[in-house]
Amino acid sequence: MKKTGKFITIEGTDGSGKSTQIELLKDYFNEINKEAVFVREPGSTEIGEKIRSLILDTKNTAMTDETEALLYAACRIQLVKEVILPSLEEGKIVVCDRYVDSSIAYQGFGRGLGQEKIESINSFAIEKCMPDITLFFNLPPEKGILRKNNQKKLDRIELEGLSFHNKVYNGYLSLAASNKDRIKSIDASLPVEQVFLDVKNIIDAMR
Ligand code: TYD
Repeated sequence: MKKTGKFITIEGTDGSGKSTQIELLKDYFNEINKEAVFVREPGSTEIGEKIRSLILDTKNTAMTDETEALLYAACRIQLVKEVILPSLEEGKIVVCDRYVDSSIAYQGFGRGLGQEKIESINSFAIEKCMPDITLFFNLPPEKGILRKNNQKKLDRIELEGLSFHNKVYNGYLSLAASNKDRIKSIDASLPVEQVFLDVKNIIDAMR
């Protein structure tokens, strides 16, 4: 079946303020009576949530980078088939907190597995289901990590050092530079309300 809905993904380094903006976007869609399905990666399906705990568990220090990349991809295809594609086929808007760009940035650049390998694993996993638009919350990691440290107990990925998160950030910058039509870069260092104005402008323009 043809997908007629709109697929929006949200990306950024840890602590870039995605979660706050996603909550504001939910409220906005409610206000304008737009039905939208909100999901997050890794997770959002019963099987995906189990894979999520496995990936993010701080006890799993022996996990290889390749295992990590494959688990994220496994989690993704479960979500694509169970929720994303069916919703898009019904003409709904789907907003996904992180998607394949996260794997390219974190596993490809951060872990150093390379963009090509991650793209090839994921071409199998996502069956050509690419976002129509991606909002990239652009915030240098040293600022993001500070925000996270103040918020909660850090998971296995967040516990990685600043040099890892800098590689991830560079991955995002490179993806944004080579996918200018799809990836909209938003300055996430601005105050929350101002950041959301940018989000709203981009979302309104795509309707
Ligand atoms: P989460 O608590 O959802 O973080 P955030 O609120 O920043 O999205 O944890 C998800 C973590 O998994 C986050 O550190 C990014 C990482 N991740 C990858 O490394 N690769 C991926 O493909 C995805 C989807 C996430």
